[in-house]
Amino acid sequence: MQVTRFSIDPGFPVAPVDPRLFGSFVEHMGRCVYTGVFEPGHPAADADGFRADVLDLVRELGPTIVRYPGGNFVSGYRWEDGVGPLEKRPRRLDLAWRTVESNHFGIDEFLRWCGAAGVEPMVAVNLGTRGVAEATDLLEYCNHPAGTALSDLRRSNGTEKPHAVKVWCLGNELDGPWQVGHKTAREYGRLAAETARAMRMVDANVELVAVGSSNSSMPTFGAWEDTVLEECYDLVDYVSLHNYYEPLDDDVDSFLASGVDLDRAIQAIAATADAVGARLRSSKQIKLSVDEWNVWHHRHFSGQHALDWAGRRELIEDRYDVTDAVVVGSLLISLLRNADRVAIACQAQLVNVIAPVMTRPDGPAWRQTVFHPFAQAARHARGTVLRVEPRGPVVDTARFGPVPVVDATATVDPETGDLTVLAVNRSRTETVQMDADVRSMPGLRLAAATTLTSDDPTTRNTEEQPDAVTPQPLREVSLAEGRLLAALPPVSWNVLRLRVADPATHHKEHDR
Ligand code: AHR
Repeated sequence: MQVTRFSIDPGFPVAPVDPRLFGSFVEHMGRCVYTGVFEPGHPAADADGFRADVLDLVRELGPTIVRYPGGNFVSGYRWEDGVGPLEKRPRRLDLAWRTVESNHFGIDEFLRWCGAAGVEPMVAVNLGTRGVAEATDLLEYCNHPAGTALSDLRRSNGTEKPHAVKVWCLGNELDGPWQVGHKTAREYGRLAAETARAMRMVDANVELVAVGSSNSSMPTFGAWEDTVLEECYDLVDYVSLHNYYEPLDDDVDSFLASGVDLDRAIQAIAATADAVGARLRSSKQIKLSVDEWNVWHHRHFSGQHALDWAGRRELIEDRYDVTDAVVVGSLLISLLRNADRVAIACQAQLVNVIAPVMTRPDGPAWRQTVFHPFAQAARHARGTVLRVEPRGPVVDTARFGPVPVVDATATVDPETGDLTVLAVNRSRTETVQMDADVRSMPGLRLAAATTLTSDDPTTRNTEEQPDAVTPQPLREVSLAEGRLLAALPPVSWNVLRLRVADPATHHKEHDR
């Protein structure tokens, strides 16, 4: 059996894991909102029309922050349409997805839903067709305590206390020609700067995300961030990055290596931001918000311009298999590995639209394969990321050259000393032995080890068989004399959890 070796040593930390690394995304698109999170009349709907079965799965999935309301949708959105009495809310054309938007779900519903789900909201303002005034209006509506027309409107709509939304996106994908209100980098950078300046006047506590590249293949990738940040560097906290992956030309080896592309994209944008900072003689460091990432099989999507005007309909409801879940796992490893620069990340989207959670209108909700790596990482990969450098077999890929077959990362909980190791085996045929040296962390015992894999990596979860793919106990695993050994099956996502056998020992070590 081939072997991949690495050392895990708490003396080599990358950075603390920001809990916001495990974010998600709810857009007014397809069935994400309507018949996804919100379906009045569904047997499981609560008084607000929120599906309780979906809320249960969201709590199990464990996102910490959820971005809303788009996505492309936000670039033509008028937030005022979505507040107040339902019967007065106008029906509008949604130019992004060629849909008629009922506005039955709006900012107040979303923020109430966040409370029910136990997640932090992350709200995007429309900088496509709108500007400074509408962004500050929405912020005032949400966050100002009382005594102004907009804050009192919120109160009369049922929310007495301010929503206190902290994280705001200054638009969405305005580098893309498909975006309503698409702009040049200079145009957008100026607008972002002026919007940020005014929003900070309304509420000094906000954290702001400038729009970065829509993906790393954009012709303006890097140059866009350079210009935009030149305009708004001192006024924003984060720059966004979006990246979706799929098996192009059925090249599964490159697809399984997608994490390499995400690593490179993150590092390129961090370097670009630092270069702008250096030019501006700024001591501030801009962090990344990877606020749309996932597997998305574009070949199943005809493109937004092929759509005709319609009400609610299915859009990009990808059905994920085991390979997709392993790629999602490797993208999570990449985000964690770059935890020193990535502060926020949102898997796009949460329900039905390229999503971990699927629903049938008037029917059940279930977990897709990609649900499991996210849920396990969100629950267990907390604390501090440790530097892990796997050495072992490589696979030659057409897109990224030679790539390590096994990729891995590790986190240690500084409070308890517990260690979590996340590892993917990207070989399509070979089991690979993972041999991790953990001698620098004495006193650990193996608490749990699971693998998500299948003899047939095209296996999916369906409404009829919702648990066809779930994490199973990893059989060939051992911990002895500071060596953690595990036989990782082909195309697999693996989670190994090690606990401090005697917590008192850890506390003594830790307190020194
Ligand atoms: O998540 C689907 C779409 O992908 C979003 O609306 C857009 O921002 C991105 O291009």
